[in-house]
Amino acid sequence: MPETVVANDDFKRIVDTSDEWISTRTGISTRHFSSEPTWRMGAKAAKAALEQGKIDPEEIDLIIGTTITNDYATPSMACLVQGAVGAKNARAFDIGAACSGFVYAMDLASRLLADGEIRKVMVVSAERLSKITDFSRRESCVLFGDGAAACIVEKGDSPAYSYLKSDGTQGGMLYAHNPDRGANPFVPEFSLEGEFPEPESHAVQMDGKEVYKFSTRAMPEAVSEVCRKAGISPEELDWIIPHQANIRIMATAAKALGISMERIAANISRVGNTSSASIPICMDEMNRAGRLLPGQWVCLVGFGAGATYGAVLLRW
Ligand code: COA
Repeated sequence: MPETVVANDDFKRIVDTSDEWISTRTGISTRHFSSEPTWRMGAKAAKAALEQGKIDPEEIDLIIGTTITNDYATPSMACLVQGAVGAKNARAFDIGAACSGFVYAMDLASRLLADGEIRKVMVVSAERLSKITDFSRRESCVLFGDGAAACIVEKGDSPAYSYLKSDGTQGGMLYAHNPDRGANPFVPEFSLEGEFPEPESHAVQMDGKEVYKFSTRAMPEAVSEVCRKAGISPEELDWIIPHQANIRIMATAAKALGISMERIAANISRVGNTSSASIPICMDEMNRAGRLLPGQWVCLVGFGAGATYGAVLLRW
């Protein structure tokens, strides 16, 4: 996590808000903001993961980056991380699945590991959402934070299950434009008429109520379906580690699944919404705290722009 910590009350200096409104509506108390490029946050997380696993960077066969805030249109964040950590035997690329990025990457990693040629995959999720946050809009600026996490995945003894979905008709509820990269002298300027309205900035545009409704449907669906694939019931899950968007979304989903909030891992109060980095940041905290034990059923569930959503079920 970046060092700068900003509390709800600090936002009173820039927008008309209160700690009471933010904490009761979202469960967020503080978030971290970075002054570093996204890829460098990702590289730090990648180095820490390699050290923690005592893994030589040259053993990594593939790096999958997940981010909606890459510093460059190209190269990918994964390639920049590869260069920084010296993973010279890896192939590297980014995927774009917004807040579901980590879950999508874990599904992909598991399928590629099954092939046999790739033995170690590093998933690096890094987000500097403050780059695409409009700090004059109180309904969204209080939600987001920056952060990064990485994990190294190998083929294990028990299978991983996954359930991934997208609904491309829902793109307009949560989107951000790329910055204009300059006009083409050979063709007339095109209009985005009929597409998502072009705002004055490339900050995140969000219909909070629609996102809320979508998320509270998507999360229980993904968890139930992935459990069905594994032949277990959601009550048998030891942990759900959900995308950290809003504590009320997690509580509503937990209720729909008939699961106690005690089994929902949540660190949103300290970190806010860090998009694709939120699940692995929370998973790392749980792991370091010794709360994830061998043999436990751990379900990772994400949802976000696209719309995308999905769950991965692992036997820890
Ligand atoms: N501080 C104080 N008041 C605020 C505020 C803030 N930061 N942001 C909005 N308000 C106001 C609104 O202007 C509105 O005022 P009004 O009633 O006078 O018009 C009032 O609070 C209620 O706003 P509303 O939008 O109805 O609140 P809500 O209960 O729907 O909560 C969200 C808003 C954004 C917290 C909620 O919709 C949400 O979490 N949605 C999902 C967002 C998300 O997770 N996005 C990322 C997904 S990956």
